[in-house]
Amino acid sequence: MSDSQNPGLSQATLSAGSSSVELPVHQPTLGAPCIDIGKLPKATGCFTYDPGFTATASCKSAITYIDGEEGVLLYRGYPIEQLAEKSSFLEVASLLINGELPTKSEFASFEHEVTHHTMMHEAFKSFLGGFRHDAHPMAMLVGMLGSMASFYHNDLDLEDPEQRRLAAVRLIAKVPTIAAACYRHSIGWPLRYPRNNLDYTTRFLHMLYEVPSEPLELNPVAAKAMDLLFILHADHEQNASTSTVRLVGSTGANPYVCVASGVAALWGPAHGGANEAVLKMLNQIGRPENVQSAIDKAKDKESGFRLMGFGHRVYKNYDPRAALVRKMTHEVLGQLGVNDPLLDVAMKLEEAALKDDYFVQRKLYPNVDFYSGIIYKALGIPVEMFTVMFAIARTAGWVAHWLEQQDDPENKIGRPRQVYTGPANRDYVSMDQR
Ligand code: CMC
Repeated sequence: MSDSQNPGLSQATLSAGSSSVELPVHQPTLGAPCIDIGKLPKATGCFTYDPGFTATASCKSAITYIDGEEGVLLYRGYPIEQLAEKSSFLEVASLLINGELPTKSEFASFEHEVTHHTMMHEAFKSFLGGFRHDAHPMAMLVGMLGSMASFYHNDLDLEDPEQRRLAAVRLIAKVPTIAAACYRHSIGWPLRYPRNNLDYTTRFLHMLYEVPSEPLELNPVAAKAMDLLFILHADHEQNASTSTVRLVGSTGANPYVCVASGVAALWGPAHGGANEAVLKMLNQIGRPENVQSAIDKAKDKESGFRLMGFGHRVYKNYDPRAALVRKMTHEVLGQLGVNDPLLDVAMKLEEAALKDDYFVQRKLYPNVDFYSGIIYKALGIPVEMFTVMFAIARTAGWVAHWLEQQDDPENKIGRPRQVYTGPANRDYVSMDQR
């Protein structure tokens, strides 16, 4: 859809049977105008039907803008390419939640605050101990974040903006600590406490990899690559997990469970779980010679198989994040001296899909998850942890949206309607009569 189809549209008229209603139109700073259908039920007795919210804006937001036709992604107006080249994940997190790039002293105080909220309560260890060693880390992360609400609830006053801000800072600070702890539990390693002398991403990698018996010599290429992936995953406007955070947040629920619900939504393979699914798919394809049969299978609707890491609800062009990750994959593998045959499979798959009519007609391009798994693998991140990496980064976006929502005078409980398709009113029949 082109944004210029209806420039300056201020009103829309909708007729339903004998009634007709004038509906106001909201003009965004960028993007398509949105018809406000709030008056519709009263005026016409009708609701609207939009499964998957393909045509519905659920809120006003000033955080992230995507132009899916052009392949543009802006955080607070800044192009993702510039942030990827010049910024750091923690600076981007500050930008997302505060709206402006921080000054030097603002950043120093944000970094100090995040750094000093990275510890977990010791009681978390016993929660972790309750999980089977082979539990999926995303399942553990959902549970652990939910349990955070039990530590920060009784005195929490959501009317107080400072307390809301602190909850956001705590989440950005503690999610990496909890994520690393989940991983270490799954492999039977003792927990590693966060080191305050390290930057955000390096600290996380230390918590993930360092064994008590020897110091970790971390390749700075790994920290740089991870930080860049965190920037690219930090926010993506009203995606499924962010919308989940907002829906739960609309009820006035505790912010830690709001974010836990976002992690749950992220886990699905149609969303953040795709990065894990991509690597499994590439492994199954195995060799460039098998690519064509994978393409054929993805085109066959009966097979139930989709090319993971391909397609996007909003992007009908190359996902700008995928373009950055693609470039980065070659650089990182080169710098780390890793020669991964899966990269050849991925490149062949991309090349074949981009030439194939099925994918061309449906505008299916690689998305951010297509190449990210190959980098995670090169960095030694286990496959089950891939979506956890996404969750660490997206926490910045989730809390930014939660903060924005809590301040929004138009915020009301999210409560969609339905097209009821069940039986009409009927009388109960006692069991002996059925
Ligand atoms: N492989 C094969 N066919 C596909 C694919 C794919 N990956 N994606 C979409 N299609 C086809 C689909 O079958 C449909 O065909 P038709 O018009 O003939 O019925 C058409 O393209 C439109 O697909 P859709 O399912 O209606 O599109 P959607 O907007 O509802 O779904 C999506 C978007 C991302 C869920 C979907 O493209 C998909 O399942 N992709 C694979 C999973 C994936 O990579 N997800 C990560 C998304 S990016 C990271 C994130 O933000 O979480």
